[in-house]
Amino acid sequence: MMKTPPKRPAMAAARSGDCDELAAKLFKNKDGRRRLRIVLLLAGTVVACAFFRAHDPTGFLLTGAPSSTDKDLSAALSRRTCPAYAPGDQPSIAFLHIPKTAGTLLMETLKSVMPKEGPGRWCRRGNGPLDDLPHVFSTCSAGAPDEDHQRLFATSRRNFLAQCSGFAAHQDWAFFEAVGVDPEQTISLVALRHPVDRVISDYFYSLKQNASWLNPYKPANSSDFSGLRRFVEDNRDKLNNINTQMLGGSKHCAWPGTPPNTPPHKVLTVAKHNLEKTCVILLTEYLEESLMRLSRVAGWREDTLLVAAKKLEEQSKAEAGQRVNATPKPQVPLEIRQLIAQYNHLDMQLYEHAVRLFLHQR
Ligand SMILES: *[C@@H]1O[C@H](CO)[C@@H](O)[C@H](O)[C@H]1NC(C)=O
Ligand SMILES: *[C@@H]1O[C@H](CO)[C@@H](O)[C@H](O)[C@H]1NC(C)=O
Repeated sequence: MMKTPPKRPAMAAARSGDCDELAAKLFKNKDGRRRLRIVLLLAGTVVACAFFRAHDPTGFLLTGAPSSTDKDLSAALSRRTCPAYAPGDQPSIAFLHIPKTAGTLLMETLKSVMPKEGPGRWCRRGNGPLDDLPHVFSTCSAGAPDEDHQRLFATSRRNFLAQCSGFAAHQDWAFFEAVGVDPEQTISLVALRHPVDRVISDYFYSLKQNASWLNPYKPANSSDFSGLRRFVEDNRDKLNNINTQMLGGSKHCAWPGTPPNTPPHKVLTVAKHNLEKTCVILLTEYLEESLMRLSRVAGWREDTLLVAAKKLEEQSKAEAGQRVNATPKPQVPLEIRQLIAQYNHLDMQLYEHAVRLFLHQR
């Protein structure tokens, strides 16, 4: 469907890791009248290569697997599945909520623009007779579901679309399939954030929650990041590559009819594939445009969610002096950021794919 414009070889080369080769070719080719163009191209290459090197601390983009070709990209883009709503249709939304991706703000925003009553509303959480779904924050990973998770599964299956039209769950892709979410009928939504920032946010948020298992990871003072380092090193699978594990379907228990958890060697491929199918990818770093796209897919005015999100933020600032669920955090040294990127190399690759999809989706 969409080809990379031929006039941007510098970016393409940077992406595929052939920076040095391209530069050499350009130098060899300097015959008089094409000289200016070559110099410009070369400058572009240097800038693009520097950019990709700076933003790829793991070195994966430049030294790892070859980048996808344009054909792969258009195939990936064509897998996107969205409902086709007619004007006046009530949209429904299923949100795969990866922790620390601005998901709470997003949910509150969606809730505020959907009807307050009736089956078009956002699903109510709680254990009362008027609530639709129980509060369950933990991911159901491996084994048989416990009582809470069974209740979450049963109520999601029964009440979504019958009683209410929007819900989020801290569960993996397989959960949404098991619950029966149909991407042709319901907007599938996932929010992603730069993996390093997500882990850092998770760490400081967990510290704020004062969970006892975090005691060995507490910093001695505001310039001590050894706790964060150990937090990442000691909890290899529990805290790292969470985006990939959730989108790749490797964090679920035995829901009826679901395949077993995706094995580690396949999880990135599956996660990329599921991301391609997702109707709306929200990138925390491009929140405004993401909200505009989501509004449009839902059949609302383009600024609906932006206006609602701003209003909520102002309200919560006035009430609490800070953003909903936001965690203040000190500046983390580059060395630690690079360590986190290494431990989250699957998420780094998935995020790169998400950015590419985001830039090419309409
Ligand atoms: C956090 O936990 C520590 C020890 O586990 C305790 O001394 C402290 O009072 C707790 N702080 C809060 C805010 O709960
Ligand atoms: C902060 O804690 C670390 C680790 O205990 C220590 O090495 C450092 O000197 C402390 N820095 C300050 C400013 O207190």
